[in-house]
Amino acid sequence: MIDNYGRKIDYMRISVTELCNLRCRYCMPEEGIVKRDHEEMMTAEETVDAVKAAVSLGISKIRITGGEPLVKRGIVSLCRQIAAIEGVRELCITTNGTLLPRYGRELKDAGVNRVNISLDTLDPDKYREITRIGDLREALDGVDAAFEAGFEKVKINTVLMGGFNDDEIKDFVALTCDRPLEVRFIELMPIGGGMDFDKAKFISCQSVLSEVPKLRPLGCSDGVAVMYSLPGAMGRIGLIRPISCEFCRECNKIRLTADGMLKPCLHSDAEISIKGKSRAEMELVMQDAILQKPQMRDHLDADNPSHAGRNMNSIGG
Ligand code: GTP
Ligand code: 5AD
Ligand code: SF4
Repeated sequence: MIDNYGRKIDYMRISVTELCNLRCRYCMPEEGIVKRDHEEMMTAEETVDAVKAAVSLGISKIRITGGEPLVKRGIVSLCRQIAAIEGVRELCITTNGTLLPRYGRELKDAGVNRVNISLDTLDPDKYREITRIGDLREALDGVDAAFEAGFEKVKINTVLMGGFNDDEIKDFVALTCDRPLEVRFIELMPIGGGMDFDKAKFISCQSVLSEVPKLRPLGCSDGVAVMYSLPGAMGRIGLIRPISCEFCRECNKIRLTADGMLKPCLHSDAEISIKGKSRAEMELVMQDAILQKPQMRDHLDADNPSHAGRNMNSIGG
């Protein structure tokens, strides 16, 4: 479907749970969150109906997010049902990776095409610090498991934080040398927990290019990432610049939360419920949500936080 500003909306991000087995500082409150009443959340049947409604409006790419999607009971079966829907061209998951050794192969067999793994540091102590409770080994095993499972592509998402991981940029770039990995550096966004970060943490993706001048632009984008590579490397580098570059003009997506709210825009608190609706009703509401997509977000920086109205753990990125 084409929205009011001529953008083709073909991508839906579905957060299937707000819960997570980690507590990343920019995403989750330290104490975690209270598990919501079952009845408030989308059932698997409703989620499948929502995908069918989306497909009939021209959406062909589905990304499953969280919280951490792999802590959701029945995730493999849900993915299998979504992958089987005619018109779903690409089914992807964004995960912290820690449960991929357990579910990677099953998800691949269920029809998941690709996985993106969140990993902000390669240092075990810093990993514990940023995730509060995580174990780096489990995340790294998850990356290996993703390769072993045979997904079409494996990407790593690294949120850049000044004074925290900017000294590791070279190490992350080096990961692409002998593996067909795509490492994407993401500018920290002032959303949820990210709003409490001090200004110095918000650094631009330009620092990646200054740190590694050998990176060559590939002259193309992959979704919201602008692509680069190190000469001779098997993998690629992506820069995702939600702060220093504006990508609203190319925005092709709509988001669905685990409690059934459609979000026309990541940075707006406008939400429309599809919980409890029939598939036909969902289609109408979704159409309306797409037509409510704003042309552009408000200015965003450390002093001008997002109006997302939710923590990242209940939006899913
Ligand atoms: P691919 O399908 O592999 O291109 O993945 P993706 O980049 O669409 O999804 P992923 O979950 O890996 O998201 C990476 C980062 O990009 C997250 O921090 C998202 O919040 C951010 N992101 C993705 N789309 C948008 C968008 O439309 N607006 C903003 N501001 N950020 C986005
Ligand atoms: N800024 C930038 N990226 C974020 N993510 C979560 N919160 C933020 C934030 N405040 C990233 C996660 C994950 C992706 C879905 O979104 O690291 O890779
Ligand atoms: Fe969990 Fe991902 Fe949020 Fe970290 S960023 S707490 S891994 S949902």
